[in-house]
Amino acid sequence: MADKAKVAIFISGRGSNMAALLYASLLPDSTYEVCLVAANDPDAEGLTLASAEGVPTFALSHKGRTRADHDAAMEAAAKEAGAQYIVLAGYMRILSPEFVSRWQGRMLNIHPSLLPKYPGLDTHARAIEAGDSHGGVSVHLVTEELDAGEVLGSLPVAIRAGETADSLAERVRFAEHQLYPRVLSDYVSRGSDPGYLLEKVRALALSLPEAHERESHGSPGWRAGSEKSGKYFAYFNDQHHGSEHIALLVKTGSMDELLDLVEAQPHAYFKPAYYGASGWIGVILNRPGIDWDHVAEWLERSWRSVAPARLAKLINAAEDF
Ligand code: GRF
Repeated sequence: MADKAKVAIFISGRGSNMAALLYASLLPDSTYEVCLVAANDPDAEGLTLASAEGVPTFALSHKGRTRADHDAAMEAAAKEAGAQYIVLAGYMRILSPEFVSRWQGRMLNIHPSLLPKYPGLDTHARAIEAGDSHGGVSVHLVTEELDAGEVLGSLPVAIRAGETADSLAERVRFAEHQLYPRVLSDYVSRGSDPGYLLEKVRALALSLPEAHERESHGSPGWRAGSEKSGKYFAYFNDQHHGSEHIALLVKTGSMDELLDLVEAQPHAYFKPAYYGASGWIGVILNRPGIDWDHVAEWLERSWRSVAPARLAKLINAAEDF
């Protein structure tokens, strides 16, 4: 299995979600490990649990400090512990926009409602008041806007007759403890998950005009043009022919270009077996920091090189528009 992702968990209080995340990380197939539990309240209950389990802790009160200074100290502790992700679990602080933007795509939060419903506070009371059939919980990416980042997963929890905000909160908590470890585990490993990578590539490939999918030698492939006379512009390879890569194969302009790219950026490109000989390059997808805009550019370029002239004209016209 690939190295486990390192995760710092920020808490403010009881830390029951932190405990759920921590114990799930001790299961043999966990894709992440907890490298730090940090709190803005030195008396946060969760800290003693974390240290009893041998997890490093950090605590610094926000009182008497500017937001920027406090954030910087928390961030420094996370970085020092080697964190690749920050996971907020009942962390009752608004983070500065600079901090949030530095961790864009690498910071998650759990929120006790079915987002986009009820961002902010008093979520359970609001769901009951509105007569909703379900409350629930969501795990989302943290962006500058409160509770508004991409939702990575959610679980509904039924609202019973006579439900109070407290009784609902208590049951939602059980759902939280199931959801958060699962979503985090999937999220940190999705960059090496062939199913996820294929879905991303498929969506980009099929967004090109008259593109359709057709399997080729057991691999998904995409063709431009009609079903009858279309030509392949991309293939998806999952560790094919002994390669350790999950890759997109696309057409380069020449063998020189292919070899130059492979030599200059061996972490990003390789010359695939068989296909390489006719100018197809392997764009490595299962690597940290993959840039999907760049993958989209490769797909479009490869599509242009095989698409019938009438289609290429279409895309040029759309761009001029
Ligand atoms: C949870 O309800 C979570 O949804 C919210 O804060 C609470 C944290 O509880 N963001 P705990 O500290 O994990 O027990």
